[in-house]
Amino acid sequence: MPDLDATLTRAAAALAEARSVAVLTGAGVSAESRIPTFREAAAALKQDADEHTDMRALWEEFDPATLATPEAFNANPELVSRWYDWRRLKCLAAEPNAGHVALAVIERAITDRGGAFCLATQNVDGLHARAGSVNIIELHGSILSWRCTRTGAVELLGREPMLRHPMESRDGGLLRPNVVWFGESLPPGAMESAAEAAASCDVFLTVGTSSVVYPAAGLTEIAHVSGATTIEVNPDSTPATAIVDHQLQGPSGELLPRLVALAFPG
Ligand code: OAD
Repeated sequence: MPDLDATLTRAAAALAEARSVAVLTGAGVSAESRIPTFREAAAALKQDADEHTDMRALWEEFDPATLATPEAFNANPELVSRWYDWRRLKCLAAEPNAGHVALAVIERAITDRGGAFCLATQNVDGLHARAGSVNIIELHGSILSWRCTRTGAVELLGREPMLRHPMESRDGGLLRPNVVWFGESLPPGAMESAAEAAASCDVFLTVGTSSVVYPAAGLTEIAHVSGATTIEVNPDSTPATAIVDHQLQGPSGELLPRLVALAFPG
């Protein structure tokens, strides 16, 4: 495998010349912000539950890995609401890391010279926006806003834990997290906009995603067949590694700032 410095230099040269950039991110870009992934969170919350006997009984009956479905919410709205509120507060307590900030710097560098930039994320944690990114497509929704099960009306929440689980909405329904659950459709138009950006960009970055969940994972393939220079940032290889032009193997919090420093010096 070519050495990392040489690959960084080549990737930065492409980024420096780009007129349009599209990005796909996944949970890995938030790993250095210490946001637990779905499975880590399950173990952590179970440990919390062990300290609160009222939750213990619920865990016996429920497999945490199946919480992210409409069926789970309908079957046990209290547990699913408690679980997502716990993760919501974790996201609010987290800080964007240097990888998030570097992606916002790329957006400013490209748009300041009249270019196009689009960041499609599978993450629901809101950290890209807090790092300064602007043109964001949240392919899997947001854990920071919840919506009414009856009308779909979205309600923004404060920074405090919910008072009860589940909360009633203003419209007489229940509040559920405004995220895409397994088996649900992506937000209307989200994938179309992301695919359009991937098909028309000069440079495509895929950062911190295992590239196994479709349709999001298909964006790298769209960029590749459309002739974009494709760059992957991930400590591990993924199914996308075989088709990208430049594999930057390492943590995004370290490699994205190095890429930006080379592509946009000064
Ligand atoms: P995954 O947990 O599947 O993959 C995270 C990727 O990040 C892995 O490839 C890790 O190697 C990589 N990674 C870990 N630490 C990293 C770091 N510091 N810097 C860069 N990369 C790092 O998360 P996603 O690919 O985002 O869907 O998962 C995609 C979707 O699967 C999620 O959105 C969710 C899940 O089911 C829904 O909830 C609908």
